[in-house]
Amino acid sequence: MNKILVFILFAMFPIVYANPDYADCLLYNINTSITNVTFTPDPPSPLGLPLLFNYSISGISPTTTSTSLFVEFFTENSNSPFDAHIIQVPSNVTELNLTDLYVSMPILTNSYLIMFALVDDSIGYINCVTFPHFSSSPSN
Ligand SMILES: *[C@@H]1O[C@H](CO)[C@@H](O)[C@H](O)[C@H]1NC(C)=O
Ligand SMILES: *[C@@H]1O[C@H](CO)[C@@H](O)[C@H](O)[C@H]1NC(C)=O
Ligand SMILES: *[C@@H]1O[C@H](CO)[C@@H](O)[C@H](O)[C@H]1NC(C)=O
Ligand SMILES: *[C@@H]1O[C@H](CO)[C@@H](O)[C@H](O)[C@H]1NC(C)=O
Ligand SMILES: *[C@@H]1O[C@H](CO)[C@@H](O)[C@H](O)[C@H]1NC(C)=O
Repeated sequence: MNKILVFILFAMFPIVYANPDYADCLLYNINTSITNVTFTPDPPSPLGLPLLFNYSISGISPTTTSTSLFVEFFTENSNSPFDAHIIQVPSNVTELNLTDLYVSMPILTNSYLIMFALVDDSIGYINCVTFPHFSSSPSN
């Protein structure tokens, strides 16, 4: 059922510039639109090497106070990330265009999911996108 839902929502947001095989965050009960994230290398580099990424979003509410980009890594069947990075970004803006950010790769397995989520102290989740690389995913 989740897969059907994910497929329907995926089909509703076709205008996204992102790495292939992206999805929304409904698996984690986060219901937002999806935005532009590109990262390299894909598939990610070995443990400890940087995962470089660009993130852009426009048309968001400017009424933010403290805003962060969360980069989180999940294993399959877990709702808690095993690794999380919180990057403070400018607040009170209506668009962001962040290039050449990086986090250190924590990946030990080839079955994982990367989540990029823009989170604001007062608003909560503004935007969220995932890149599932679970070994059981049909798309991999
Ligand atoms: C997600 O949010 C949209 C807009 O608020 C709503 O129409 C949709 O039903 C929500 N989906 C889920 C699974 O909660
Ligand atoms: C990020 O943007 C910069 C500048 O536009 C570009 O050179 C780089 O290739 C982009 N990186 C990714 C991972 O898309
Ligand atoms: C993604 O990037 C494109 C091209 O820059 C832009 O037109 C679009 O509005 C962006 N999508 C979001 C959700 O910000
Ligand atoms: C947010 O931005 C608006 C317009 O640039 C400015 O007038 C306002 O003072 C800013 N608010 C905060 C809390 O920085
Ligand atoms: C983001 O910045 C890069 C590098 O300056 C630029 O190439 C790109 O068009 C910008 N994207 C948006 C949506 O402003």
